[in-house]
Amino acid sequence: MIVHDAAIMPALDVPEWARASHFTDIESPGVEYAFLRACRGESTPFTPVWLMRQAGRYLPEYRRIRERLSFLDLCRDSQTAAEVTVGTVRKLGVDAAIIFADILLPLLPMGLGLEFAKGEGPHVERPIRGIADVERLPNVSVAETLAFVGETIALTKAELRGVAPVIGFAGAPFTVASYAIEGGSSRNFTETKKLMYREPRVWHGLMAYITELTSAYLRMQIEAGADAVQLFDSWVGCLSPGDYVDYVLPYTQQVIASLRSSVPVIYFGTMTAGLLDVIRMTGADVVGVDWRIDLDEARDRLGENVAIQGNFDPVKLFAEPAEIRKGAREILARMEGRPGHIFNLGHGVLPGTPVDGVLALIDAVHAYDRR
Ligand code: CP3
Repeated sequence: MIVHDAAIMPALDVPEWARASHFTDIESPGVEYAFLRACRGESTPFTPVWLMRQAGRYLPEYRRIRERLSFLDLCRDSQTAAEVTVGTVRKLGVDAAIIFADILLPLLPMGLGLEFAKGEGPHVERPIRGIADVERLPNVSVAETLAFVGETIALTKAELRGVAPVIGFAGAPFTVASYAIEGGSSRNFTETKKLMYREPRVWHGLMAYITELTSAYLRMQIEAGADAVQLFDSWVGCLSPGDYVDYVLPYTQQVIASLRSSVPVIYFGTMTAGLLDVIRMTGADVVGVDWRIDLDEARDRLGENVAIQGNFDPVKLFAEPAEIRKGAREILARMEGRPGHIFNLGHGVLPGTPVDGVLALIDAVHAYDRR
């Protein structure tokens, strides 16, 4: 096993015997993962970095596995899913592992029918359009139906002990609801907003249901060993601040509150520059932002009590390594060495991204001298 020293932060004087046992457990005194310290706004010797969608189609190893397993079968095969995550973390040298799963998996126990057609993205067979569809939603235990995600976490964590902490995740209620209603990806979220504005009772019924399910799903992941969790609210930037407060905020707050600060919670969305004042109210420990806002401005708007994650443009990974390194340094310089920054992209790694670009980025973050 290759121990990735850069991910571990030695503090105090830790004797050799302590290092050799489970020396990076959060419980053990003195030594901690830089990623987890940054989540709590504590100082770290370097800026920790991981990338959303770090395991995916841009990697030849991943494409080879997908030749024999469909995407959903891969998610359900905990052993192989864990191997995908672990292999990626070792190859990239990132400071955190995100488990291999998808924000749309809860649509399976919801009984909506979910498919990933080749090259076309997700498709929901029975989208939600009215009160009857909400009333039909089953009373299910996600901890049981999605138990394979917990197994993936346990296997990943066992493999990466001493190498990197493990991030569990779920879609945030708004973004999951948008897929359940639209039936797939969307540009204007017309069906979602029609339901929200025209049938608020149906909207709130659906959001309450998804909130319960998401809370239980994340609690199961934390019990399985997740060191932190991320809520993906990828498309929430389509809302006005007022609508976010009226139709979404109470549910986001409820999911985060249900976790009772057991592990750090990262809340991520794109195009949220106009929403940061209301996102402050979610209770998240870390807020992820995209490249459409400068990191120092986002930081000032969010205040000192939350850490920040981001915000390199994933399309810039197609640039020459020198340009990538320059872009990384610009973002890091905006933090002026202040703690509470986790370096990431502003959205996921895209298919076709050059692996060398990804490696250049991670290297540039680790090499940056903050003095
Ligand atoms: O490496 C990781 O980040 C962990 C795994 C992960 C996946 N999806 C695997 C995946 C994570 C964290 C996600 C989150 C996710 N899924 C989001 C939020 C982040 C974002 O990009 O906004 C969303 C919106 C989804 C829904 C989803 N899943 C879509 C729209 C698609 C199809 C489009 C696409 O990018 O392929 C997926 C499929 C998906 N999820 C793939 C992977 C690796 C590709 C599947 C394949 O063809 O092999």
